[in-house]
Amino acid sequence: MENDMSRKSALVTGAAGFIGHHLVKYLVRKGYDVRGADIKPPAFEASPASDFAICDLRDFDNCRAVTADVEEIYHLAADMGGIGYISGSHATIAINNTLINAHMIQAAKKNNAKRFLFSSSACIYPLYLQTKPDVTPLREEDAWPAQPEEGYGLEKLFMEKLCQYFHEDYGMETRSVRFHNVYGPLGTYDGGREKAPAAICRKIALAQDGDTIEIWGDGQQTRSFMYVDDCVEGIFRIMQSDHAAPLNLGTDELVTVDQLVDTVAAIAGKRVGKAHDVSKPQGVRGRNSDNTRLREVLGWEPTMMVRDGLVPTYAWIEAQVRAEAPMPHAIAAE
Ligand code: NAD
Ligand code: GDD
Repeated sequence: MENDMSRKSALVTGAAGFIGHHLVKYLVRKGYDVRGADIKPPAFEASPASDFAICDLRDFDNCRAVTADVEEIYHLAADMGGIGYISGSHATIAINNTLINAHMIQAAKKNNAKRFLFSSSACIYPLYLQTKPDVTPLREEDAWPAQPEEGYGLEKLFMEKLCQYFHEDYGMETRSVRFHNVYGPLGTYDGGREKAPAAICRKIALAQDGDTIEIWGDGQQTRSFMYVDDCVEGIFRIMQSDHAAPLNLGTDELVTVDQLVDTVAAIAGKRVGKAHDVSKPQGVRGRNSDNTRLREVLGWEPTMMVRDGLVPTYAWIEAQVRAEAPMPHAIAAE
């Protein structure tokens, strides 16, 4: 870390990840002195953080080291992925995230951090409220009585409580932000952890005009999707607010998975058939964000429509896929 007392300092954990990397860029643009921490370096481009610690945040000593001498902690590191990953790895995810989160907030307290923001998830909301595609948007107070997603969602809900307790008992300025499905360039688009927007962009990028692609479920399940620029803007605004209780951060534009596919296909200029596979993981039937409280607290909410945010997202994923594809002459030579 540079030792310039006139600049605010921040730690971003999960700084090599999708949202963390965008957040580091945002904070650097704001003039922050940023330390990044992650178990690996960024996959697609170098981090502009002035200091980047490659370390395992399940280990308390590492958490203690990276939380030293920073004013604001944006804690995004987590073992996470789309519904295919989180529904198949309950034990691994629960143990990894329990260790990371408990050690991070304890280390932040020991180092007297002023502000601590935790990246929670819409997966904390009760499954019993998300059984229909035309779901009623989820309000913050709907979280209890609880029935979160197994593993990942339950652990996030417990960490929200730890943030509440550290705020009440120790006066730490904590924030818990419930992200709703985030997409954009520089996100995971293959390998098994990808979420629906990136997976569909990849499948369409790989398809020829007229091909049929596999879609998980019957395509009628619904979600709201938030563009990553809105996500980092919201994270920063919530950190600067005085609102310690959990807040939704998402859009309230409800779309079906089939509409998502049709939108990407139109952007790509390809006709694609859909082969629905109901044996694949589907998660909840419908999920949307109620932004009433977010608007009250911030006077702001995410605005990017899916049809607009998917344009740069598809362009980036299509470029990655094209760069990976073997050259036609290389295939011919084998
Ligand atoms: P991501 O997987 O791209 O980033 C998470 C980062 O955490 C990765 O770079 C990973 O290497 C790092 N990490 C994992 N285990 C670690 C460890 N033991 N030590 C150090 N670093 C470790 O995910 P993302 O989409 O950028 O998500 C960021 C945060 O937002 C996560 O907490 C996630 O649960 C939460 N969230 C994301 C979404 C979404 O749609 N992307 C939705 C809800 C919540
Ligand atoms: N991943 C994926 N891949 N999903 C697909 C695909 C595909 O090829 N085709 C259709 N889907 C459908 C899934 O079946 C699911 O019904 C829907 O698209 C959304 O899937 P995801 O984007 O993988 O996950 P999610 O919305 O259920 O949960 C995600 O968002 C949460 C926050 O809102 C996950 O990333 C969670 O980790 C996150 O917390």
